[in-house]
Amino acid sequence: MNLQQVQELDANYYMNTFGQRTPICFTEGKGITLTDTEGKKYQDFFAGIAVNCLGYGHPRLVEELKDQVEKLTHISNVFYTENQARLAEMLVNNSCLDRVFFANTGAEANEGAIKLVKKYFVEQGKAEKREIITLKNSFHGRTLATVAATGQEKYQKPYLPLLEKFVHVEVNDCAALTDAVNENTAAIMVELIQGESGVLPLTEEFVATIEQLRKEKDLLLVVDEVQTGIGRTGKLFAYEWYGIEPDIVTLAKGLGGGIPIGAFLAKDSVAAAFHPGDHGTTFGGNPLSARAGLVVLDELLNNGVLKNAATVGAYMQETLSAIESEKIEQVRGKGLMIGVVLSQPIAKAVGGALRDKGYIVGVVGDKVLRLVPPLIITKDDVDGLAEALKDVLGKDEIK
Ligand SMILES: Cc1ncc(COP(=O)(O)O)c(C=O)c1O
Repeated sequence: MNLQQVQELDANYYMNTFGQRTPICFTEGKGITLTDTEGKKYQDFFAGIAVNCLGYGHPRLVEELKDQVEKLTHISNVFYTENQARLAEMLVNNSCLDRVFFANTGAEANEGAIKLVKKYFVEQGKAEKREIITLKNSFHGRTLATVAATGQEKYQKPYLPLLEKFVHVEVNDCAALTDAVNENTAAIMVELIQGESGVLPLTEEFVATIEQLRKEKDLLLVVDEVQTGIGRTGKLFAYEWYGIEPDIVTLAKGLGGGIPIGAFLAKDSVAAAFHPGDHGTTFGGNPLSARAGLVVLDELLNNGVLKNAATVGAYMQETLSAIESEKIEQVRGKGLMIGVVLSQPIAKAVGGALRDKGYIVGVVGDKVLRLVPPLIITKDDVDGLAEALKDVLGKDEIK
């Protein structure tokens, strides 16, 4: 099919939730290169929104998934699954958490984490502790509870009143956070680098305030690492940058390298609040998605991909920061999660011009380019993007 034919089908049969999509339909990928229906090639700095950490057509991932599809793709969690057990072990051995539950998406992982927080305090006879503090401009997912957790009115408005109550506090405002905590506060839930709202890191001071409140106020810290986790920031988990140990961490996106899988991990003392029947899933952690997770983690930890993300990520920060243009206000983020903040509301125009040149980048609002490429990119790939960006920003019509 060509692009127009796919667009017609989409217009006739798909619910109109994505509006006017970017007019490209990709058909295949290799490394960080994507090809569309018209045969045009693109260098991908978006990775399916921070998902395809091993790029496209990764030989080992392809081989192992083929093998797994031939053997067994899905079986019920009524039974034991070796890949699931091994992936749980690998996540625990490489994190500060003790127990894992596998879901299918980020929202589902967060939903499970929210249930676990509530159950933890119910088990202690403190059912009144059910308020969770999240941050303004945060993004935690599209289910009803995670929409309520998300600190952005536009996602909530059509669904008011929401089932769950969350208190939303301004990002990096230590006083506001301290004021928001009361005796009913059960948890603080944060992204350490807010992804959907333009790659905005929490300050060290703000995280120190969270740590102080944790010590004093009998509350849990849930870190949503759906986007920042699995090597995206140059460390396996973003919490490592801040030297903290959350009580619960949620994951998805990169974990399956493109195969849907989510997870929430918790300290033993917290995970113990879940008893048989308290939570469950049909698909979560099935043999196929868990096999993908095993390959991804092994590639990251034992085959140099995590190190590459750190090295090339630092290089990308440096290279983009060195671009001399009054149209760039700031380059921020960590590892291969970078936001280029523009000084004028030209992000859409810049993203479009880069696309014309064969580069796919994310655009957040009017002013931010979001770069979350596959973790296997090279310095040469970065140089290519930097040249293209320089060229686009130099054009008088981009204003
Ligand atoms: C930080 C964060 N949490 C949760 C989600 C929701 O994940 P999913 O779309 O897999 O449900 C996202 C998705 O962008 C995210 O960035």
